[in-house]
Amino acid sequence: MDPTPESVGTGHERRRRAYSARNRALDVHLNLNVRGRLPSATVAINERSDELRRQGRTICKLGLGQSPFPVPQSVVRSLQENAFQKDYLPVKGLPALREAIADYHRRKEDVPATAADVLVGPGSKELMFLIQLVYYGDLVIPTPTWVSYAPQAGIIGRQVQWIQTRSVDRWQLMPDQLQALCDMDPGRPRIVILNYPNNPTGGTYKLEELKGLARVARENKVVLLSDEIYSDLHYKGQHVSISRFYPEGTIISSGLSKWCGAGGWRIGHFVFPTGMRWLLDAMAAVASETYTATSAPIQHAAVRAFQGGPDIERYLKHSRRVLSTLARWIVNHLSNAGIRVEPPRGAFYLFLDFENYRDELAARNITTSVALCEHLLEEAGVAILPGSAFGRPESELTARMAFVDFDGEKALDAIEPVASDAKLNGAFVRSIAPEMSAAIDRIVEWTGAAANPRS
Ligand SMILES: Cc1ncc(COP(=O)(O)O)c(C=O)c1O
Repeated sequence: MDPTPESVGTGHERRRRAYSARNRALDVHLNLNVRGRLPSATVAINERSDELRRQGRTICKLGLGQSPFPVPQSVVRSLQENAFQKDYLPVKGLPALREAIADYHRRKEDVPATAADVLVGPGSKELMFLIQLVYYGDLVIPTPTWVSYAPQAGIIGRQVQWIQTRSVDRWQLMPDQLQALCDMDPGRPRIVILNYPNNPTGGTYKLEELKGLARVARENKVVLLSDEIYSDLHYKGQHVSISRFYPEGTIISSGLSKWCGAGGWRIGHFVFPTGMRWLLDAMAAVASETYTATSAPIQHAAVRAFQGGPDIERYLKHSRRVLSTLARWIVNHLSNAGIRVEPPRGAFYLFLDFENYRDELAARNITTSVALCEHLLEEAGVAILPGSAFGRPESELTARMAFVDFDGEKALDAIEPVASDAKLNGAFVRSIAPEMSAAIDRIVEWTGAAANPRS
């Protein structure tokens, strides 16, 4: 038998070799589906922004899409009162919470949901991962799109079919586009993602468009995964779920992260059509072998949030007013400077299009959305995310702005005494969001500088 490396040489050498063998890094054996994956673009820009701040630069962070508002007091209180809850809960969710969620969707969207149709999970993102794991079929994603659907499909090994929406359609999926995709391979099992109010555009669908999409989906027997997590941040409080027009094939995805400002609480849910209980059950089976159940105190507190009431409605009304006032002001400012932006109808995102500046930007070597955002960060001190992170072509000069860099609590206090029909002007915007409004000025100036490369 050959001597092992440890058995030759002096005692000192043997010990040294044994030590280095113990500390030698193991070979890298990563699942092929995750090899080369990097943290999301959102995380990367956030880290770069923090680094620049550490260097003493003024940076306005409009990259990360987190609600600026505090969790409503009554919901926080309910969490405090339930801190003692320690038992594992049923994998599908606390029965009282499933009931409260079903009631919320009946009340808000006239969707005939029952508690048995609801699946609660640790964030809707996790449920989206689970559905892709258990459903056998392709994932159809209209772009621009939220950043995580496609990487989840990649990790699982699901095939993604992209549909590029058009700026003339307000970046929304049109029924004929969905029909054209289905015609290419009729009968193929598919989940189509809809997301409205949309991240990254803030756009929503007109009633006729929802009906058209529902008709195409029904004719082609596709499953709609309708991500309606921003529904309660529709600025006019008039969100309509597509489930009303295609109840048998629509799964609604929602949660507390956005309208209730509780992203870090990690709770989300799906509402299934009764005929799709097989899918709910399959997801619950996988959940029981992975995260077991969602945090007990959070679920108990969430009951209060979904029960609603006057304080929650007031909170929502003021949140919507703050967001729509900011959106209107920013859209005006940017459009006056020649930056195209579709006025949002809900949520806290804007999808900017610098196409009007293509030649001037090209003269400064800026020909991709990534370069555009890098220059904006380094030269104007504003962090926004490139359109390519949202599934758009690399050379398209688009970017997402999350207009959330302001103190949400102060903004709610400031807007509360203002009469509902009062027109809020720029002075109000500058008072509630001084840094963010200054950042918008810097984008406008920077773009002006881009228009004149010699300046
Ligand atoms: C469109 C969209 N869907 C889903 C999520 C995930 O939300 P949750 O916190 O429920 O996982 C987000 C979060 O940013 C989102 O923007």
